[in-house]
Amino acid sequence: MQSELLKKYFKKAQKEKWAIGQFNFSTTEQLKGILLAAKKMKSPVILGTSEGESEFLGIFSVFHLVNNLVLDLNINLKTIFLNFDHGKNLEFLKKAIDNNYSMVHIDGSLLCLEENIKKTKEAVILAKKNNVLIEGELGIIPKTGEKINKANLTHSEQIREFVDKTGIDCLAISFGNIHGIPKKPLKIDFERLKQIKKQTNTFLVFHGGSGTKSQDFKKAIKLGITKININTEIRMIWKDSLKQALKGKEIKPYKILPNIIKQIEKLVEEKIKLFGSANKIIC
Ligand code: 13P
Repeated sequence: MQSELLKKYFKKAQKEKWAIGQFNFSTTEQLKGILLAAKKMKSPVILGTSEGESEFLGIFSVFHLVNNLVLDLNINLKTIFLNFDHGKNLEFLKKAIDNNYSMVHIDGSLLCLEENIKKTKEAVILAKKNNVLIEGELGIIPKTGEKINKANLTHSEQIREFVDKTGIDCLAISFGNIHGIPKKPLKIDFERLKQIKKQTNTFLVFHGGSGTKSQDFKKAIKLGITKININTEIRMIWKDSLKQALKGKEIKPYKILPNIIKQIEKLVEEKIKLFGSANKIIC
């Protein structure tokens, strides 16, 4: 089972202090770029699709698309995992489980603690029944432009209750990280991360990796982060390089798009180096 192998990777990452990158995609150029980087760097990677991205790609198609490209690109399928990112709708999350995702993320972060526990528990039951790993979220992670409100960050005193009552495998936390490119440099609350880590051995997830300084990633990994999510930077490179490529006279997509794939591959390669997951494949 892919989920058992993914758990082994999380354990290895936690022990050796590196992180697995989750890279989101909604186009084949993005997917190819990520896969080629993983192959070149001999790194495990998690491919993320949000509700919107999954809907756009087609939830029945995602696994097959990944699986077939993995064969075409001659990549070891055992190093590639799929996560359903920020699932809010349980029916949709169940579809991801039924369609070969290795992992699903239930995001109840906007609910009160009690409701978040209740919804996350329902998702855990669905996931565990099907041997799929599950990520929960505690604390609100703001989007670019939104103010960071200390009261909404993850409170270490709530961790044990949340983890014990839900039974999640991974936990997304809010500790100064934001989704999207930060307008001004982030102030990551490393002291909060330390306190959270003291409360649990659950695999901790850093959302909103785009625009984060290298030294902040390194410190967060040292303090116990084992998964880092990147989306916006991939979307931006995709859009910018596509715009550039469309300026010429060429009309053949297979001549226009390879450069976009190359740019994404380069970006993901840099992240993999930074996260320390290169050459970490379990044979
Ligand atoms: P960014 O878009 O900030 O990279 O965040 C991605 C993310 O956390 C997906 O879950």
